[in-house]
Formats: sequence, structure tokens, C-alpha cells
Amino acid sequence: VISVKTTELTIRQPDDWHVHLREGSMLKAVLPYTARQFARAIIMPNLAEPVTTVARAVDYRHRILQALSEEDGVKEFLPLMTAYLTDKTEPADLIDGYKDGIFAAAKLYPANTTTNSANGVTDIRKLEPVFHNMEETGMPLLIHGEVNDPMVDIFDREEIFIRRVLKPLIMMFPNLKVVLEHITTSEAVDFIRSMEGKVAATITPHHLIINRNALFQEGLRPHHYCLPVAKRERHRLALRNAATSGEPWFFLGTDTAPHPISAKEASCGCAGIFSALTALELYTQVFEEEEALD
Ligand code: DOR
Ligand code: ZN
Repeated sequence: VISVKTTELTIRQPDDWHVHLREGSMLKAVLPYTARQFARAIIMPNLAEPVTTVARAVDYRHRILQALSEEDGVKEFLPLMTAYLTDKTEPADLIDGYKDGIFAAAKLYPANTTTNSANGVTDIRKLEPVFHNMEETGMPLLIHGEVNDPMVDIFDREEIFIRRVLKPLIMMFPNLKVVLEHITTSEAVDFIRSMEGKVAATITPHHLIINRNALFQEGLRPHHYCLPVAKRERHRLALRNAATSGEPWFFLGTDTAPHPISAKEASCGCAGIFSALTALELYTQVFEEEEALD
């Protein structure tokens, strides 16, 4: 058997639909990697002080653009800002921000599910007026799809979220544009397929490459820890099938999520995998392995 490895590939410049850029020196350090590869990126709003208002989004977008310097060699990069939903989000502010082109979408973090989500949504029913307005204007809702119920096993939190929260939400708001982000389970893949385009999903490179064994390979591996946490092998295989299927409702979102090494290699390490440096190559490798490059 002769195996031919691809050495060169020309593709249209892609967008990254899920990126954490952080602030300050971290922003400056990580942004060039995303901006060199991707034309546009959906910027996550989970800063220490979350991006909850139009004013904060304008300020953050400005800081992102300022962080790129000549030496980074980036001609054009468009950060697309998102609004961090809280129990107190006012529909009017949010929708104005969308209509004015400041917010590209709104992000739902169920409270306490991940990094800087303490101000997230405690009870989704409180946001019904917000979802109603988003549905009417076509503003997309991006969802971290995990329940925050500590009684639910961490490996089941996505599957239970789909059943308990997402399905009823979509029943109530059938025309709401929803993206279930960074999916990790075959249940999520099946659900997205069953919706035939009414709901989309992003898939990260790391969830295509590692399964949960990677967290415990000869010891505890904090750099493989992210949320939603990697699942069993059968889920990884379902994700690879979805990503390379050509079905347009599965798309690229790296969830590149840098943390200082001291915050990863700690007794209570942060969730997040920084992949911006190699994300495109990692996706490409997966497509090659799945014989789906064309
Ligand atoms: O692994 C993760 N890291 N998952 C998230 O949902 C948030 C992200 C972060 O901000 O570090
Ligand atoms: Zn994320």
C-alpha cells in the first residue's frame, strides 16, 4: 500500500466561529495566530468583566483591533462581537446592538458551566422576551450546551441539555437561529441532523482528535481539559463523521481558549485548549485521515 501524504493545499480563507481572545498581554500574544489564518472570527464575550453591553462590545472590539501591529502581517481581520446574556439582559439594548451591527450574535452561558460564566443565565425562562425579540429580528443565539446541575454527571451534561433545555427552547421559538457550540457527543450530532438546518453546530479540532482517555494518559493531563469535556471514542468518531460529511449545518469553531500555564497546571486547573497556532492544520489532518480533503 502506498500512502501519499498531502504536502500542499490551497483553500479559501476560512472564518473561525468560536474564539477566546482574552485581554491585555494575552490578547496581544494570541490574536495574531487567529488573525493570520482566519478572515473573520466570532469573539467570545466571557471576559472577567463580561461583554454585556453595546458600550463594552465597542470598547473590546477597539482593543482587539489595536492589539494587531504591523509586524503581525495581517491585512484584514474582522472580529465579530457577541453579547453575553445574563438574567438581566434587556431585549431593547441587545436588539439595538444587533441592528447597529455591533453584535453579530448573543451568547448563552448557563451560569457556572465554564470559565467566567458566573454571571450567566440561571433560569432560561427569564429570557423569553429576549429570545422572542431575537427570533423576530434574526439575531443568532450561540449556546454553551451543558446543564449546570451538579447532580448530572459531567460526561452527560450536553446530552441532558439537549433534552431538557434545547428541545423545549426550539419548540417555543421555532424560528430562532440557534448554534449549538463545540458539540462533543453523538447525541448532539444526531440532534443537529434531525433538525435539517434549523439548528447548526460548531466542532473544535480537539474534539475531533482526543477522547476522554487523553485526560488521564499516564497521569493527569491538564492541557487536554476543556469544556464540554472530551467524551468516549464513539462520540469522537461521530464528530469526525459529521465534520467531514459536507452537511452545511456543521461548521468550524476552534474554541481556542488560552490560559496562562500556571492556571492550567494547578490544583484546580482552568478549562480550555489553546489551538489557534495549529487549528487549521489540525482540521486538515482530520480531513486527510478521513479521506475527505476533496
Ligand atoms: O474549555 C473551555 N474554555 N470551554 C469554555 O466553554 C470556555 C473556555 C474558556 O473561556 O476558557
Ligand atoms: Zn468557548
